Amino acid sequence: MDQIGVNTMRSVQKLIKSAMKTRVLTAFPNLPQNSFEIQLESISNNLNFEYKTPTVIRIYNQFKKQNLFGDLKSEVEVAQKIAATEGQDNVIQKVEAIEKGFLTIQLNNQFIEDEINSILANGLKFPLEKKQKVVVDYSSPNIAKEMHVGHLRSTILGESLCRILEFQGQEVVRVNHVGDWGTQFGMLINHLLEEYPDYQTNKPALKELEDLYKEAKKKFDSNEEFKLKSQQFVVKLQALDPVCIDAWKMICDLSRQEYNKIYQRLNVKITEYGESYYNPILNEIVKECEAKGIVELDQGAKIIRVKGEKVPLMIVKKDGGYNYDTTDMAAAKTRILEWKCDRLLYLTDVGQWNHFKLVFEGAKLMGWHQPPNTSMEHMGFGLVLGPDGKKFKTRSGDTVKLIDLLDEAKERALKQIQLRVQENQQGKEFSTGTALSPEEFETAAERMGIAAIKYYDLKQNRISDYNFDYDKMLDPKGNTAVYLMYSYVRMLSILRKSGIQDFEVFKGEHKFKITHQHERHLAAQLLRFVDVLQSVTDQLAINWLCDYIYDICVKIAEAYNQYRILNDEHTQTRLLLCEAVKMVLLQSFHLVGIEPIEKI
Ligand code: ARG
Repeated sequence: MDQIGVNTMRSVQKLIKSAMKTRVLTAFPNLPQNSFEIQLESISNNLNFEYKTPTVIRIYNQFKKQNLFGDLKSEVEVAQKIAATEGQDNVIQKVEAIEKGFLTIQLNNQFIEDEINSILANGLKFPLEKKQKVVVDYSSPNIAKEMHVGHLRSTILGESLCRILEFQGQEVVRVNHVGDWGTQFGMLINHLLEEYPDYQTNKPALKELEDLYKEAKKKFDSNEEFKLKSQQFVVKLQALDPVCIDAWKMICDLSRQEYNKIYQRLNVKITEYGESYYNPILNEIVKECEAKGIVELDQGAKIIRVKGEKVPLMIVKKDGGYNYDTTDMAAAKTRILEWKCDRLLYLTDVGQWNHFKLVFEGAKLMGWHQPPNTSMEHMGFGLVLGPDGKKFKTRSGDTVKLIDLLDEAKERALKQIQLRVQENQQGKEFSTGTALSPEEFETAAERMGIAAIKYYDLKQNRISDYNFDYDKMLDPKGNTAVYLMYSYVRMLSILRKSGIQDFEVFKGEHKFKITHQHERHLAAQLLRFVDVLQSVTDQLAINWLCDYIYDICVKIAEAYNQYRILNDEHTQTRLLLCEAVKMVLLQSFHLVGIEPIEKI
């Protein structure tokens, strides 16, 4: 069957756009059909309408001189005529002309009910229009250096992006482009062999490996002889000298063990195709570029100049070695021609923007990358700063380690839970205590702590820097994972209290029917799911998904004040809406990497 079948969700925006276009053309049959598209804005904080369009203004200005609007003298009058036009669709209930020629659009109740009932019956299925193979290059730490907060964003954003693309039905290749082949290995191997000649029997732990890096770097910068020898080691390694390869493997393995611990805690699934993976084809890549006639010699180095860019790509260094640019060119070719990927996404901080621009242009010059058939995009992001807005350092001035951040977030979440218990025992007013048994504290705290970090990162406009602030991340009243998790638990507890044993049966026996304006409001928000996810992957803006989830939770909180769910004549339909909310929340949690808890 088609990707978009009867059981998939639908893009509400698409349906409205087409319905509105029909209305406009019914009102003004002389307008050229292909001269306009309806622009839509989603309005989620109004109970009377859900969408708004400025398109009439544009159409009016474009065609007023051609006398297509009869005696109507302004965009407002044109908008009024469109609003008064009967529509034939079942999507829109009401169109209203507001000030300046804007139109507001209210969804049809029956339409909302049908869509919600369809979600309840069929689950959440995304209407994928065009299947693509997408490679997501993320996390990508450097071997022999511990993962630090700088790699946090790449890992969190990348994992979430993969989950969203997969949910949409795309084929996703998750790539960890670890830095395992750079010049740093020359000095590392050199130093390792000097300091730990018995490394095979007596393996240094990673703490030492990082020290090894620091020491090696120190020597490299200060000792000319060491530097020369290190450069020779790079060449030897790249020529696959067995001693070097052996030392290299050991270093990589130690690093890998460390970052796998982090991936496990963050629940990240990623496959390593590090820089070294491309080593066998680097010679050939360089030859291919030369044969294409785009390589220039520049003081002994081989470079590719890119139009409009001052700095060129350097595919062979003066000393004959390969570098970051070479491996990225090789990776581009492999991913496009061999893996047959349509879309290539790269997640690093914005500082590497220029590097990727060069690589993308280089791949284009080589004819591998042929937009619009292929797309190469850099999903750059800002820095993580300390709570004070300055560079993120520990008290002793060291860079902050990712694993310490996770531990601390968990610790703090644990304290929050313990505080609830204490306050409850002391009989403090408003204290809710906890439904968790002490054995469950640890797991709950781990989930909350990790979710808090992830969500706080994802909800940022990714280009901006942000301050790493535990208090803000874990605030149960703010736009945080903790708030969302509470909200979810509350929803579950209502569903539990309803006494309904089997929701599958219940769903089959009852249908959702709007009985209150706020139900409409909440339901319409659920129906935005498809459009939100579509723009998230079009624009690479995961923060919109976060805003969307938060908005649902705010609306549920409002709903509790607006109407009764249990023990009401409308209990059945309201429970069905709760169930649909639960489905959307649970799916969204998965997409942003929140592992929910069932009680708090
Ligand atoms: N290892 C690099 C770093 O830590 C990131 C690699 C990103 N991916 C790529 N294909 N260049 O800065």
